[in-house]
Amino acid sequence: MSNYDVIAVGGGPGGYVAAIRAAQLGLKVACIDASRRPDGKPALGGTCTNVGCIPSKALLQSSEFFSLLQNDFATHGIQVKDAKIDLAQMMQRKNQIIQQNNLGVAYLLKKNKVDFYHGTAEWVEPPSRGDSYPHRIKVVTTQGESILQSKNLVIATGSLPRPLPDLAFDEHRVLSNEGILSLTEVPKVLCVLGAGVIGLEMGSVWQRLGAKVIILEALQDFLPAADRSISQEAYKFFKAQGLTLELGIRLQSAVVADQAVHIQYHNARGELQSIQADQFLVSIGRIAQTQGLNLAISGVETLPDGKIKVDSRLQTNVPGIWAVGDVIGGPMLAHKAEEEGVAVAESIAGQSGHVNYQTIPWVIYTDPELAWVGQTEQQVQALGRAYKVGSFPFMANGRARALGNTHGLVKIIADANTDEILGVHILGPQASELIAEAAMAMEFRATSEDLARICHAHPSLAETTREAALAVTGRALHI
Ligand code: NAI
Repeated sequence: MSNYDVIAVGGGPGGYVAAIRAAQLGLKVACIDASRRPDGKPALGGTCTNVGCIPSKALLQSSEFFSLLQNDFATHGIQVKDAKIDLAQMMQRKNQIIQQNNLGVAYLLKKNKVDFYHGTAEWVEPPSRGDSYPHRIKVVTTQGESILQSKNLVIATGSLPRPLPDLAFDEHRVLSNEGILSLTEVPKVLCVLGAGVIGLEMGSVWQRLGAKVIILEALQDFLPAADRSISQEAYKFFKAQGLTLELGIRLQSAVVADQAVHIQYHNARGELQSIQADQFLVSIGRIAQTQGLNLAISGVETLPDGKIKVDSRLQTNVPGIWAVGDVIGGPMLAHKAEEEGVAVAESIAGQSGHVNYQTIPWVIYTDPELAWVGQTEQQVQALGRAYKVGSFPFMANGRARALGNTHGLVKIIADANTDEILGVHILGPQASELIAEAAMAMEFRATSEDLARICHAHPSLAETTREAALAVTGRALHI
């Protein structure tokens, strides 16, 4: 029987990062993950690497190039005739990127001397309190079964797509985040249920590649988690790009028949509408993945929505069993899981592991990109806090003009009395990169004045952030 200080169950951004950090801190660590590549080899990296962040960004990049080629290159004086999509090549490139990341995570585990088990983990007995290794789990690999015992376990088993109650994913017509990344033909009509992060990103990909994309959203508000002025701007841009976005709908039925999906819904006015789509992407959120763990045996408590209950240190009700990432509450973001993985490893090693949930950035990789950190104007208002706002459009930024991408703006919200930055909201080119400066400023509890006095390179998109900071006190220079 092998003994460990820490076993991470799950090899996604939460689990493998917890394992690496624990190993860096001198602990004896194992990581267990069952995902397989088509050739049977380990597919380390979790949802993010295999069917989430990484492949979606690969396809977003490919489809953006195609869109630029068709719509923008001529303005640069570049003529290209007869541009065609080779979807098989596009998918092969995406698959290679996934594989590089799978191998990259395996390399990192090995480099840090983390023992990797390619199989499933399950509880077979409750923790035996008082033992030096109180947690025992069974690992089933292709080589057979073994029992591992550990002082600590980190549950990092992630999440699964939420299906509709009466329509299972077949990944052919009815797609989750997985099937939508591996289509072999561009659909003529793609219907998307849920205008959340996945619906918008994947809707953008297939629309740029030529599909007619219809996105149906139950809520009346578009992207309610984002700052309203930013989400309203984004809504306009997406509509202008040709995405059909229907808000306030109620799904009536969705049936697969005759090589199509037949969807009926009531629109916001209550009128019954019908769509016939080649594919139907159901992106209505995700649920915690704890199937197969035999969690009940461990004594770990779950919440009514199936997520694992943890305390402020990310420990479950069972001492020595911790949980991170999508399987617990909070935003389902890879970087949030990573932060939690580090914090748990540091807590286990006797340090003060901590996650600052106030400075976790959000990004939606559409065109233009949306990114934000901190509070929205609506949240600040609801708290009754006095605030100031400064904003600056990319239209007035020289680098954005040279790029040919001037959509959007940066908006900064600061406390009216202390000037501390409360939230930064970006819609525009490279928002995913620009948000890092805002997160850093907020981590250091910077004021808008601090940001306004930092010299930014010219010409750069980041000057827009500085100008928005100047605008908080009415001093923007270039507008
Ligand atoms: P989501 O929570 O972002 O959006 C789901 C949307 O579906 C919501 O707007 C909701 O109102 C709507 N909805 C729910 N039930 C519906 C129904 N019956 N009919 C119509 N609309 C309905 O969830 P999504 O897009 O599935 O993504 C799952 C998770 O993955 C998110 O929590 C997100 O954080 C994460 N993710 C993050 C990415 C990023 O950081 N760029 C990329 C992709 C996913």
